[in-house]
Amino acid sequence: MATPELEGRIALITGAARGLGAQMARRFAAAGARVVIADLDEAAGRALAAELPGAGFRRLDVTCEAEWLATWDALERDVGPVRILVNNAGFYRPNVPLEQMELALWQKHFAINADGPFLGCREALRRMKGCDGVVLNIASTAAINGFLNGAAYSASKAALAMLTRIAAKAGGPQGLRVNGIMPGATPTDMLRGNKLPGQSDEELYASLRPYHPLGRLATPDDIAGVALFLCSDQAAFISGVLLAVDGGAAA
Ligand SMILES: NC(=O)c1ccc[n+]([C@@H]2O[C@H](COP(=O)([O-])OP(=O)(O)OC[C@H]3O[C@@H](n4cnc5c(N)ncnc54)[C@H](O)[C@@H]3O)[C@@H](O)[C@H]2O)c1
Repeated sequence: MATPELEGRIALITGAARGLGAQMARRFAAAGARVVIADLDEAAGRALAAELPGAGFRRLDVTCEAEWLATWDALERDVGPVRILVNNAGFYRPNVPLEQMELALWQKHFAINADGPFLGCREALRRMKGCDGVVLNIASTAAINGFLNGAAYSASKAALAMLTRIAAKAGGPQGLRVNGIMPGATPTDMLRGNKLPGQSDEELYASLRPYHPLGRLATPDDIAGVALFLCSDQAAFISGVLLAVDGGAAA
């Protein structure tokens, strides 16, 4: 039997207690990775870790520098060197016209969607040396299209997209690959947060389908499969790429 593609590699995935991150955790574990689910939601994160072979949970608030350092130190001490980092944790408050945006809400988007991945990328640059490390940042098509009533989300994801490109330039000489995915609309708790008062899940999904030329929304596995590819050796010469996985929506 062929060796699983991520055999024994330690993969730290933020925001992996649910949604896209949880499906990445499942796919990475099935590919042989030792997955560390890092999330604020301890109950859901621990429950998922218990289902996956070789997986563990670590409570991490990605906006907190001290928690990043403590997480990375603990993993290096107790588990081993981190080989894969997926900056997946994200925050989106939809349906907020720009003129009504409070500064605190704007800053919360940047703290989770941009500061968090910055701290992760910086630690990866400091700590993943000579190990063919990989960072994957989960951005959004909002980074290039912009959502009218999602200015903070769109701008913070655009910052993450540029961070991805700069980190790839910085990491290349040490063999660190840094890429991004821009998922299309995928049914998760975050997407369902877009529902207008009285709207059902199905009505929301139906309203979003026309934006995707392939005529459907993404599944979490559509995104997780591409994440697995970009974090595997099959993508050994891909770095600095922001890949839209959106059924053609960004075209
Ligand atoms: N679902 C979509 O349609 C879609 C589309 C494009 C991009 N994305 C991006 O994909 C990523 C995952 O989205 P999702 O739909 O699975 O979201 P989700 O809201 O369903 O799950 C996000 C997870 O992140 C965790 N989290 C939030 N803040 C955190 C913090 N400060 N520290 C650690 N963990 C934190 C939450 O507890 C949760 O488990 C996000 O970055 C999101 O912006 C999602």
